[in-house]
Amino acid sequence: MTEKKFIKALQGTRYEQPPFWLMRQAGRYLPEYRELRAKAGGFLDMVYNSEFATEVTMQPLRRFGMDAAILFSDILVIPHALGQKLEFVAGEGPKLDAIENAEGLVKLSEGNVDKVLQPVYDTVKNLRSQMVQEGMAGTALIGFAGAPWTVATYMVEGGGSKTFEKVKAFAYRDPVGFAQLIDIVTEATIHYLKKQIEAGAEAIQIFDSWAGVLDQDQFAQWVMVPTIKIVNAVKTAYPDVPVIGFPKGAGILYESYAQNTGVDAIGLDTQVPTKWAAEVLQPELPVQGNLDPVALLVGGDALEKEARRILEDLSEGPYVFNLGHGVIKETPPEHVGQLAKIIRGEA
Ligand code: CP3
Repeated sequence: MTEKKFIKALQGTRYEQPPFWLMRQAGRYLPEYRELRAKAGGFLDMVYNSEFATEVTMQPLRRFGMDAAILFSDILVIPHALGQKLEFVAGEGPKLDAIENAEGLVKLSEGNVDKVLQPVYDTVKNLRSQMVQEGMAGTALIGFAGAPWTVATYMVEGGGSKTFEKVKAFAYRDPVGFAQLIDIVTEATIHYLKKQIEAGAEAIQIFDSWAGVLDQDQFAQWVMVPTIKIVNAVKTAYPDVPVIGFPKGAGILYESYAQNTGVDAIGLDTQVPTKWAAEVLQPELPVQGNLDPVALLVGGDALEKEARRILEDLSEGPYVFNLGHGVIKETPPEHVGQLAKIIRGEA
């Protein structure tokens, strides 16, 4: 039986002072990250170097003592491992060789997935022993993947998008072909998550960053169906490993996602009203979230006020404190320190 606070919260234990971690807690807002990143060369060089990836995962824990570490990797390693060209251009984000229709699927193959991702599995394994070595035996390790819909948006758009025209057009024009793409990503993701758990991941988060751009039928087809498959497969193999779903932007569809995907806990984006979440979602399952990353960027009274409001609204039930999206890279590290104190009741 685990004594880790983060895992127990995901299993339904309520804490006066909830456990916490932050999405993108390892990253460019930390000078020690920027230093290592400069040494590694590119972002992907860092992800595929287990020593570097282990080190940057540890960095925020040493400073702030989060209750959970999140594996340092990226959701786009799946398309990369399936053979799609991927580059991270400094200041521009990811660039992929876009797959705009079913013909493009020939570029993908499962043959090399484990070969490409072996360093990521090694990072997970290293992290478990590194955390114990550094006296963090109570800290849990989160593995993760992108949800197929969100990963597919990058694969089809060839990078980030504001309109999602290409990926939506593919899905409207050729739902059968698009379903093939979603299936390929779903199967690879199931495999990838199981390998992370085998290597030592103690909980899983599924990031569906673009769940909010679909209408209700598309949401059912491209968000719900693949998520149900993934949760089912992971829970069948590893029933005790909690799965957190994060359907960012899902709005009113949060409720059906929480009820029907089989996730153990649900990540709230900043727009989800906390009182509504406490009333509607939290009686069914633990929730995680949802401080505005901009309040963390600003710090001071604004941060304190927002953090206390959220703690008050969500600490009556099983809850993990987090942001509603990732740490912004201009965030002063001291603000994360201030937040940690508020959550622990030290400020
Ligand atoms: O600390 C952590 O949260 C763990 C590591 C992690 C990263 N990316 C590292 C990263 C995680 C969990 C992710 C998830 C991820 N990646 C998502 C889902 C969550 C979200 O943000 O909505 C998405 C959509 C991606 C794709 C991605 N990766 C983009 C769009 C970018 C560029 C934008 C940016 O912030 O520069 C990345 C790069 C990336 N992934 C960085 C980090 C630390 C910055 C890379 C750098 O060092 O230059």
